[in-house]
Amino acid sequence: MHSGRHFLQIPGPTNVPDRVLRAMDRPVIDHRSAEFAALGREVLEGLRTVFQTASPVIIYPGSGTGAWEAAIVNTLSPGDRVLLFETGHFSQLWRQVIEKFGVQVDYVPGNWRRGADPGELEKRLDADGQHALKAVLVVHNETSTGVTSRVAEIRRAMNRVRHPALLLVDTISSLGSIDYRHDEWGVDVTVAGSQKGLMLPPGIGFNAISAKALAANKTARLPRSYWDWQEMLKANRNGFFPYTPATNLLYGLREALRMLHEEGLPNVFRRHERHAEATRAAVQAWGLCTVCEEPREYSNSLTAVFMPEGFDADQLRAMILENFDMSLGAGLSKLAGKVFRIGHLGSFNDLMLAGTLSGIEMGLQLSGVPHRQGGVTAALQHLVKTAPKPAVAESVS
Ligand SMILES: Cc1ncc(COP(=O)(O)O)c(C=O)c1O
Repeated sequence: MHSGRHFLQIPGPTNVPDRVLRAMDRPVIDHRSAEFAALGREVLEGLRTVFQTASPVIIYPGSGTGAWEAAIVNTLSPGDRVLLFETGHFSQLWRQVIEKFGVQVDYVPGNWRRGADPGELEKRLDADGQHALKAVLVVHNETSTGVTSRVAEIRRAMNRVRHPALLLVDTISSLGSIDYRHDEWGVDVTVAGSQKGLMLPPGIGFNAISAKALAANKTARLPRSYWDWQEMLKANRNGFFPYTPATNLLYGLREALRMLHEEGLPNVFRRHERHAEATRAAVQAWGLCTVCEEPREYSNSLTAVFMPEGFDADQLRAMILENFDMSLGAGLSKLAGKVFRIGHLGSFNDLMLAGTLSGIEMGLQLSGVPHRQGGVTAALQHLVKTAPKPAVAESVS
């Protein structure tokens, strides 16, 4: 038995704030009622700010994998060819979904330590004079490695060669944590989920859709029913859904959006950035190495850390869970046992980070993993040095 709160420091699902839990603790209402329509309209509208788009955002009951599938079946046809960057475990899974639909994937190889390469993309698109490639797909923040691809640069590379492919981006572990601009970056479909930066339990997924993606939808021939955008958009106009929505998760979403708007997105992004910087200061002080090897692509929502040769990440994680009641992310597929992942996204603050890093430092010591002490101190120093200036209280005379 452990007392106090469990530390859920996997890179999603993330800690759900009490405000969101309380907001969901309500009776279910009739999803054909005027009361529901007001809720539907508020969340559909409020989401646009978070995706930084004026376009529609669709909400599905389902996980991120469903939202991946929705992006594919709504825009592509059997036999189409697309280009997807190998960034890690999640790009691999997305590839499997796409291939199951008879779409051919040009999988651009990667070493799982860097993001999608805009230069390589430009070269490949330039060589595709016939425009056989119908879409470019990128996982914005690869949750298995802690690497964030430079989507704005990807778009610029596409524009330079004037290639008409759609741009489909997975923001499942970046939305609401790392600056992401659907409209400004000319993204056609942004895929997201509820359980990370949006601070909700798992259970809803999103597609933000550009006008170009909507046009592609008119001619896309992959079979679709549950994921069909058109049915959704028709019902959404009045705040409704074509089938039973995840009502209580929408109550939670309304509250989470209010919280993000109250804090202000730039402050949310800066908070995640500080916590990521402090985490990397700790990792460096321990003498360990992050999976991400390109400083321009460090993730602000999670940090994946290599174990020293011959030491098992899963044993370390088990020791930390047992002794300190903290869950850290496991290494996935080819990184299994070699890497542990620290989630520092969502509803999170300086002292939660201090606790998280303390648990890791104590775990390293208890497990006899070779490291230097002082990681926590290095992180705390960074947090102090970068602490936001408190707002000056208005003097009462
Ligand atoms: C980047 C990324 N894409 C896709 C997924 C799959 O989402 P889900 O597990 O919600 O189906 C995840 C899950 O963690 C993810 O991190």
